[in-house]
Amino acid sequence: RKDGVGRLPAMGWNSWNAFGCDVNSTKIMTAATEMIQLGLKDLGYQYVNIDDCWSVKGTRNATTHRIIPNPSTFPQGISGVAKQVHRLGLKIGIYSSAGETTCAGYPASLGYEKIDAAAFAEWGIDYLKYDNCGVPSNWTDQYNFCVPDGTSAQNPNGTCPTMTNPAPAGYNWATSKTHTRYTRMRDALLGAGRTILFSLCDWGNADVNTWANSTGNSWRMAGDISADWTRISEIANENSFKMNYVGFWGHPDPDMLEVGNGNLTIPENRAHFALWAIMKGPLIIGTALNTISTTHLDILKNKYLIQFHQDPVYGRSAHPYKWGYNPDWTFDPAHPAEYWSGPSSTLDGTLVLMYNSENQTATRTATWSEVPELKGGNAYQVTDAWSGKHLGCVKDSHSVQLESHDAAVLVVGHRC
Ligand code: DGJ
Repeated sequence: RKDGVGRLPAMGWNSWNAFGCDVNSTKIMTAATEMIQLGLKDLGYQYVNIDDCWSVKGTRNATTHRIIPNPSTFPQGISGVAKQVHRLGLKIGIYSSAGETTCAGYPASLGYEKIDAAAFAEWGIDYLKYDNCGVPSNWTDQYNFCVPDGTSAQNPNGTCPTMTNPAPAGYNWATSKTHTRYTRMRDALLGAGRTILFSLCDWGNADVNTWANSTGNSWRMAGDISADWTRISEIANENSFKMNYVGFWGHPDPDMLEVGNGNLTIPENRAHFALWAIMKGPLIIGTALNTISTTHLDILKNKYLIQFHQDPVYGRSAHPYKWGYNPDWTFDPAHPAEYWSGPSSTLDGTLVLMYNSENQTATRTATWSEVPELKGGNAYQVTDAWSGKHLGCVKDSHSVQLESHDAAVLVVGHRC
């Protein structure tokens, strides 16, 4: 299924959050060599992904109809960069859109799926990020996906009723056009003769959670991330209700990492990485690796979180088990998921995360009897994932003082 790639969530680097449209082969190769020198490759980061703005605007090759790599920013073409990246033992990703143009206005793949998939395969591409920009109006979805089925039970004025599952009498669900646009590229990639991971960048549109698992290896759950805590916590809160979609081969994507970018505090960088890792979305680094600080690098290299993320036995992510200080089990930005837990074969135990969403220092307490994975025991061996310090045999609960927006990560091991 899915070409045998992407059983576990992807790890790598992408140019967009660091450089936007100001991308070229030198920056890509710098990221690739840094991934090796900084020890990121050894920890499993393997994809080096080129985002938007790599091609010539406004035209395709007149004979082959292929997208043309920009000769001034990618003088060796994409295939030349791919060769160098492969020589380093890494994999390379490219970007297009399920529309006529990319978000930055470059040629995209709607109607050219086979031509582009064949070119990507020939160039040696291993990963395609497929955006949702430049969509002509006849390819967008209606909000309510209904088609009258031709029976008398139809609403006479032709408007859609509230759609239910199964569809109400007289109506069928329409196939989402967004789904069709992404499925076309999936099939083109499967037919292109090269294993290419397919990363959908649909921003959570068109009920993507209901069909993406059979279309791609990962799919975006929401709109774009930015390097500020308001947006990052918003995505985490929204996604905390979608963890049931996570499993082997299918990875909802909370968007690429902003660790090292903007004005995020160290606690915010830490909480961001920890939440992204335990949600088991792709971990795609989005900062310039030649200037990254040791503190930020250490966050990205946390071996406990990476081991949890890359678990070969448990496909499911961590789940929230307690929401804020006033849990109400519905999406409410004021009461975010502050307590998460999940099983881990690689850590031989349970991972517990506690997050302080408040704008001030606060205490959070993990109480073993509240953690779904910890049935019955009252004392456990505990390790702190940030310091690597063994906290000994901890009875009943563990409290931490957390700075604003920080997250503590505990590995709760054997009973004692
Ligand atoms: C929108 C996507 O969500 C971003 O991650 C990035 O790929 C830009 N488009 C590029 O234009």
